[in-house]
Amino acid sequence: MVELTGKNAIVTGAAMGIGKAYATALAEQGVNISICDIDPAILDIPFTLESTGVQTYATVANVASPDEVRNFVDTTISTFGHIDILINNAGQCHVSHPDDDLDKSMRDYEKMVGTNLKGEYLVGRAVIEQMLKQETPADIINIATDHMVTCGTPDELCPRLPQCPWGSSPRPSGGGEVMDIYDASKWGLNGFLFAWAKALKPHNIRVNAICMGATDSHMIRSFYGFAADEETTNPDAKKVIETWMSATDSAQVVIDLLKEGPAGRTARNLNLCVGRRPELEPVLPHKYILEEDLHAGS
Ligand SMILES: NC(=O)c1ccc[n+]([C@@H]2O[C@H](COP(=O)([O-])OP(=O)(O)OC[C@H]3O[C@@H](n4cnc5c(N)ncnc54)[C@H](O)[C@@H]3O)[C@@H](O)[C@H]2O)c1
Repeated sequence: MVELTGKNAIVTGAAMGIGKAYATALAEQGVNISICDIDPAILDIPFTLESTGVQTYATVANVASPDEVRNFVDTTISTFGHIDILINNAGQCHVSHPDDDLDKSMRDYEKMVGTNLKGEYLVGRAVIEQMLKQETPADIINIATDHMVTCGTPDELCPRLPQCPWGSSPRPSGGGEVMDIYDASKWGLNGFLFAWAKALKPHNIRVNAICMGATDSHMIRSFYGFAADEETTNPDAKKVIETWMSATDSAQVVIDLLKEGPAGRTARNLNLCVGRRPELEPVLPHKYILEEDLHAGS
């Protein structure tokens, strides 16, 4: 287990929800935090982290804009001098359907592919350049979704199969017919995961993804049409909300993953499955990338 105190991290989309929980959990570990969001509420987050005593930098920036990403990453480097951790979290999810009209389809494409895929690509590219210059161990964590992994754990290896809500039957994948663009943008992240993990392994830079199921946040509440206080006024909604995971559960998995340090796993989609306790699963054999390929580094 490595100490995280004194490291410097970037978390995108940290004004609310899961990103805010990641930034808070990292600050509580003594990690200096650089955060961005399109929502100006991001500028208030440093005040909420003041009691942790870490250094913070917050700015309004759109991860889909190369200029805003460059400015954000350059200012992080000039403020902190070093980037040890990148959490590519900013994301958008809106209802979309294969028979939507073309104008709505293009707006949805720009919003979801722009943030979820292009955004992670741009921030990743800007940060990797710096991480390679540093020649010190580093971590990149992309935030994906359980829609694009049918639980990466083979049944015969799963230590928690008896508690798995899907039992030994194949777990359904995909978010369904109203999430085509969201799912496509998140599936695309696999391309970055495996290529970056392989290329960066010789430089001690790990690349992993968190693929969580339903987690209580502004995003999922607005997708379901639920208000922030819905569970107090609507008993049916309460039953649904109670099944979701919490952002702090997911943040603890991220902290545990980071604490593995450079000798830890890389190129993994870590599945946090609704109905199963969210915790870092044991290191399992790779399913989608050859171990020898990963070590070859080219
Ligand atoms: N909540 C879930 O059930 C769930 C499940 C699986 C994956 N995820 C993923 O987790 C991540 C966080 O989601 P959340 O549930 O906290 O959502 P959220 O909507 O509560 O928070 C997302 C944050 O990202 C910001 N953002 C959106 N577009 C941006 C852009 N272009 N540039 C910068 N910031 C931007 C938003 O303003 C917001 O603060 C997303 O990548 C999402 O796809 C969420």
